[in-house]
Amino acid sequence: MAELINGKVVSRHLRELIASDVLKFKEEYGITPGLAVILVGDDPASTVYVKNKHKACLEVGINSIEIHLPATVAEDVLISKIEELNTDAGVNGILVQLPLPKHICEERVINSIIPEKDVDAFHPINVGKLMLGKPDFIPCTPAGIMELLNYYSVEISGKECVVIGRSNIVGKPIAQLLLSKNGTVTVCHSRTKNLTESAKRADILVVAIGKPDFVNGDMIKPGAVVIDVGINRKEDGKLTGDVDFESVTEKAAYVTPVPGGVGPMTITMLLKNTLIAAKKQISKYFF
Ligand code: GUN
Repeated sequence: MAELINGKVVSRHLRELIASDVLKFKEEYGITPGLAVILVGDDPASTVYVKNKHKACLEVGINSIEIHLPATVAEDVLISKIEELNTDAGVNGILVQLPLPKHICEERVINSIIPEKDVDAFHPINVGKLMLGKPDFIPCTPAGIMELLNYYSVEISGKECVVIGRSNIVGKPIAQLLLSKNGTVTVCHSRTKNLTESAKRADILVVAIGKPDFVNGDMIKPGAVVIDVGINRKEDGKLTGDVDFESVTEKAAYVTPVPGGVGPMTITMLLKNTLIAAKKQISKYFF
């Protein structure tokens, strides 16, 4: 039976470290790090995520600035708000909760956040810096996965790492991060031929394809480390990942549960990025 990778435990541990770092920062510079979160509309899942971010900020001593705009807001009005926050000294990090209503161009909105405050690390400058191996910010979910692997002392160097999914938010950046730790990385996706064959080679398998129970025990190598990034809601309302937990846990060495695996780490990494942003913004050597 696989050992569980417990994201709640790791998250609690890291949030304690972040809280004490925030306190030190306040004492040293007299500045409280601030995170502005913009929610457009009333999507129920996004509303819950934003509320959780707010709570987590308060827990570690970060100022949380919540901005709620109606679903009908004009793109230019949203961008004007972001431009205001870009120059607001009390705001170190800016996050626009995605997805946005269809009439708003996400790319234009993301690009309007100055890279120094882009704690999601979605801006092309931050994506580019990650590709070059010199990131200021690491996108939150992939950063959380790397923290989990580190906490459980999973060796990456020289290992076969297979990523299923090629999104800009998870698949592409986690592939880059595993590569930067000297993993041998394969990225699979919906058009990949013989996906099972690739998955079965993996020492570390990261699944972020958004399909419930996509990976089962027949698709993994005995002793693999399996990271499930999926958050899918079943008909009964319960959450399930992209991995069939029952069959995989019999073969894997480590597996992340859903919920309680990768999920809690994402917000923790957002807190970490906000503190990093605050630290960098007091330094003239940001770039
Ligand atoms: N919606 C789902 N995940 C994310 C995320 O990581 N950042 C933002 N801004 N929106 C999201």
